[in-house]
Amino acid sequence: WTKIALIGAMNEEIERLVSHISDVRETVKAGITFREGTYLGKQVVVCRTGVGKVNAAVTTQILIDTFGIEAIIFTGVAGALDPELNIGDLVISSECMQHDMDVTALGFPRGIIPYEANSVFQADPALVEIAVAAGEKLFAGKVKKGRVLSGDQFIASREAVANLRLELDGVCVEMEGASVAQVCSMNAVPYVVLRSMSDKADGSAHVNFAEFTVLASENSYKMVEEIVKQL
Ligand code: ADE
Repeated sequence: WTKIALIGAMNEEIERLVSHISDVRETVKAGITFREGTYLGKQVVVCRTGVGKVNAAVTTQILIDTFGIEAIIFTGVAGALDPELNIGDLVISSECMQHDMDVTALGFPRGIIPYEANSVFQADPALVEIAVAAGEKLFAGKVKKGRVLSGDQFIASREAVANLRLELDGVCVEMEGASVAQVCSMNAVPYVVLRSMSDKADGSAHVNFAEFTVLASENSYKMVEEIVKQL
């Protein structure tokens, strides 16, 4: 891959990348600032998608069409669903799915997109393998590979957590990954999502999110750095 996108939803999630890229050229499209530059000797595009699935989808399609990127690494924070995950720990997406896609009233299982061949979007095996190796090197014992769930909701209750685990088998929950994943799948572009846990998506999630987003973003950034070194 000669040109890769390194993206996150919020400022905290991309600010380290922004400060580490050189030869930067900025372009604004659809209100999103795309920063083309060099990072660890690689040609990259860094941007903040904004929060939620629509922002992430639009940004991903622009990255592919306008910037010709060949792979996408998403870095950021998430709420933990797997009880073995603690704040600061990491998740590497094996796949992503939209937990708020709900056409159960018409008989479709939760999370299934009607009339589509696919609703669970696989991450690129090579990127996942590199990410797993990076995780073992930097955060041994604090990394899980699994299904990332995305939806336009901040999850903050134990009931919701139990439900997302039981019904959809997610390891963490966030608001963009599956959207990036679906657009990548539609365009046959490889992706991986990296998420560090800012909270446990429970009754304390809003407090933990405020306190730990910076730390978690930093951990996720360290993974990106290690992964890009190996590309
Ligand atoms: N991102 C970080 N924590 C989250 C949560 N609890 N729900 C959705 N997205 C998140």
